[in-house]
Amino acid sequence: MRWTVLTLFPSVFDSICTASLFGKAVEAGVIQVRPVDIRDHAEGKHRSVDDSPFGGGVGMVLRVEPVARALEAVRADDPAVHVVLLTPQGRLLDQARVGELAGHAHVALLCGRYEGVDDRICGLVDEELSVGDYVLSGGEPAAWVVMDAVCRLVPGVLGKAESTLEESHGAAGLLEYPQYTRPREFRGQAVPEVLLSGDHAAIARWRRRQAIVRTAERRPDLLARADLSEEERVWIEQLGRVPGRG
Ligand code: ADE
Repeated sequence: MRWTVLTLFPSVFDSICTASLFGKAVEAGVIQVRPVDIRDHAEGKHRSVDDSPFGGGVGMVLRVEPVARALEAVRADDPAVHVVLLTPQGRLLDQARVGELAGHAHVALLCGRYEGVDDRICGLVDEELSVGDYVLSGGEPAAWVVMDAVCRLVPGVLGKAESTLEESHGAAGLLEYPQYTRPREFRGQAVPEVLLSGDHAAIARWRRRQAIVRTAERRPDLLARADLSEEERVWIEQLGRVPGRG
């Protein structure tokens, strides 16, 4: 999978592309990341990429012309590229959208900067995405979030042992069940007996129920949309009226 990142700070991506799982995938050639410096597409003596807003107001606004030229170059190289503007005004990223992005062979991420971007830039992109309801100082951390979340789903990035099916926000739309490792007991807290039983069916049943309970407690908004059987829905509704965990 190819990523092109349009940014005013291309060096930010040097460390991202060499670190951890993401770096390994880059090294293995499974994913490619090409940062593009928007400033390289700015014209004039000062090659300015930002300007003060018409109508007044504080701060600077990212100009449309250098971005348009940078995007034209990216599209000339690959007309099929999917272009995403990272902005707090975009559609909120979730695991479903992450999965859809993983279906593109080439995604270009445009990092906004300063107090905003010229609104005409929005007409040059295929979609606008936000990574959360908070404001970052620029799109670069958001670009990393998007690339990391999507790359985990690209075949060959995760090892066979690291399944994405049962993790939080996985296929069933539930949070992940609780996990434990050694020691069996830590300051009076014992690992649930069933996990030591060797009974794989019982363990699977327990994990599924824990995932449902956990989602109900922490993210009831997700539970409403989760893939539950009729029996499970009845069970969790009854549990809601009974104090304590089942
Ligand atoms: N740029 C600034 N804040 C952002 C956010 N929340 N998501 C994506 N891009 C951003």
